[in-house]
Amino acid sequence: EDARIKRIASTIRVIPNFPKPGIMFQDITTLLLDPTAFRDTVDMFVERYRDKRISVVAGVEARGFIFGPPIALAIGAKFVPLRKPKKLPGEVISEEYTLEYGTDTMEMHVGAVQSNDRALVIDDLIATGGTLCAAINLIERVGAEVVECGCVIELTDLKGREKLGNRPLFVLVKGT
Ligand code: PRP
Ligand code: MG
Repeated sequence: EDARIKRIASTIRVIPNFPKPGIMFQDITTLLLDPTAFRDTVDMFVERYRDKRISVVAGVEARGFIFGPPIALAIGAKFVPLRKPKKLPGEVISEEYTLEYGTDTMEMHVGAVQSNDRALVIDDLIATGGTLCAAINLIERVGAEVVECGCVIELTDLKGREKLGNRPLFVLVKGT
């Protein structure tokens, strides 16, 4: 267990001053280059959620699209992409959220998640928590339950976890 976490953590590359000065960018593309670490990452989520009656995995564009689908397939849940604005062709609901500079919008197809769904939200990383909050709001607005949010990395100093209220957050690796 600990060995898997250690391997995963060791494959995440930290790039200082990207995309701007002062930011230590947590780069999961190097995790993806290590098939064992990538497999272990997916497995650890699958082991946690396979018996939790999750009916939908919602992945946040873009990096939640990497980890969400293999988890959804393994636990037998549908996958729903939560996308940046004006990408989804059907009817959508939108949620605005705050970034460090300005705001962004996240969209979900109407009908993709239903009121009786039990959702798992997957992303690569939680920083301020604004992104996950928008995802949670979209799912809860259609009456579904967010059972948990799952991320590979949590930047604990930013206290994004506190923004999620009572929705549980599960992470594999903690960073600062
Ligand atoms: C990054 C990361 C998370 C989000 C976390 O995505 O992948 O989705 O920021 O930040 P927060 O907790 O402060 O909201 P980004 O918006 O950079 O886009 P990408 O996934 O499309 O690369
Ligand atoms: Mg992202």
